Amino acid sequence: LLQTFSIIDSMRAWCRQQSSEQRTIGLVPTMGALHEGHLSLVQAAKERCDHCVTTIFVNPTQFAAHEDLDHYPRPLEEDLAKLRQAGVEAVFLPSAAEMYPERAGQVATSVQPSSVALPLEGVHRPDHFVGVATVVLKLFLAAPADFAFFGRKDFQQLCVIEHMVRDLNLPTQIVPCEIIREPDGLAMSSRNRYLSKSERQRALCLSRALQETEAAFHGGERSPHRLQAILADHLTDCDSVDYAVVVDRESLLPVSEIEQNAVALIAARVGSTRLIDNRELYVD
Ligand code: PAJ
Repeated sequence: LLQTFSIIDSMRAWCRQQSSEQRTIGLVPTMGALHEGHLSLVQAAKERCDHCVTTIFVNPTQFAAHEDLDHYPRPLEEDLAKLRQAGVEAVFLPSAAEMYPERAGQVATSVQPSSVALPLEGVHRPDHFVGVATVVLKLFLAAPADFAFFGRKDFQQLCVIEHMVRDLNLPTQIVPCEIIREPDGLAMSSRNRYLSKSERQRALCLSRALQETEAAFHGGERSPHRLQAILADHLTDCDSVDYAVVVDRESLLPVSEIEQNAVALIAARVGSTRLIDNRELYVD
């Protein structure tokens, strides 16, 4: 039976009760508009833990003023049906009022993320990861869990969260989960529903670009410069590209020659929809 909590204290009390009865908790933080990507995290949590707690909160502080906060899809009843179907035990639906009680005009306490938050998304969405890190810490405190599940789809976000857990000695263990894609390769995203039929087709160039880049990498290409040229060649169907890079997998910084594991990352617009995707490149 799916239990819903919207008050922080009652969510925390439920988690503490489970822990006191020696039941482990797996947390899956989301912004809702759930798809198979989210549900794969739920699945992983169900496999690893006694209980899965999913959170649905469209976090206002990680959106810039010009971004899609007001239009972000919020199909709550459909989401709850999916979570029920998946066998989730508890869903946390906090209110913005309780999550952000500070008075207007006051500066609230926040998490300063590690420097892994600075490049890429950090350049194009300057305050985004402060918002993400802060809300994730708040969710960890409201729903204390043994494990928390994050998708590799948001690779830089995963790095930011892993660094936060390490640097603040948080007791929740992060479990990274694979990117779930549509059969034709498009990485699943709540924002895919913004795409028109023709944009949906053009959006395939992101995953194709990454696939070609990975093929070249596995064929022995170790020059980030030449790998990035392959990325760029395939992104001509996009309306604009924020970045399309091959960088060090740990620091997310450029390297002149790939000797350690790397990652290819893309952020691009198709129509007015901003899409991100990535592929990790392992040297073996
Ligand atoms: P949201 O975009 O809803 O994503 C929630 C979780 O689902 C994230 O860990 C994300 O990486 C994962 N996810 C999304 N699409 C995926 C896919 N195709 N395959 C695998 N995992 C996927 O990320 C956020 O929300 C927010 O920033 C949040 C962490 C909840 C903080 O507000």
